[in-house]
Amino acid sequence: MNLKSIIYISTKVHNFSKDDLEALLARCEENNRASNITGCLIYNGMNFMQLIEGDEEAIDACMARILKDDRHSGIVTIREKNIDSRECPEWGMAGRHVSAQPDTDERAQIAEMLENAASDTRRLFDSFSSL
Ligand SMILES: Cc1cc2nc3c(=O)[nH]c(=O)nc-3n(C[C@H](O)[C@H](O)[C@H](O)COP(=O)(O)O)c2cc1C
Repeated sequence: MNLKSIIYISTKVHNFSKDDLEALLARCEENNRASNITGCLIYNGMNFMQLIEGDEEAIDACMARILKDDRHSGIVTIREKNIDSRECPEWGMAGRHVSAQPDTDERAQIAEMLENAASDTRRLFDSFSSL
């Protein structure tokens, strides 16, 4: 089985609240468990950054669904690669809302989601959350 991971960023289209994020994460959790996809997602009120990882075919299918979703636009893949092991193995789809200026607590939560991730992945999420 070929494992693959993608990290992308995108921009919300309409109002997208914390509650919308919770609902989206619940849906992702369900779909991703069924396809053995793991990852994490953060949302700062304007932009999303998401890491998805799993079997290559499952990831391509998931990405095709994500691209078609009109709740966000301007989807830009910032990293796509084959991997030997998962960076977020124990999560279906962990997700967090971060403030425009995340406090120490929010930063700690992101660090916790990514505690097994490679340093470049942690850097990408950290730089996103400090945009
Ligand atoms: C920011 C964002 C992230 C998403 N991430 C996932 C995901 O990880 N897995 C997934 O199945 N769908 C994800 N979606 C949702 C898909 O775009 C799509 O709505 C969903 O897969 C449809 O599932 P359903 O046909 O079971 O309702 C995401 C959507 C957005 C806007």
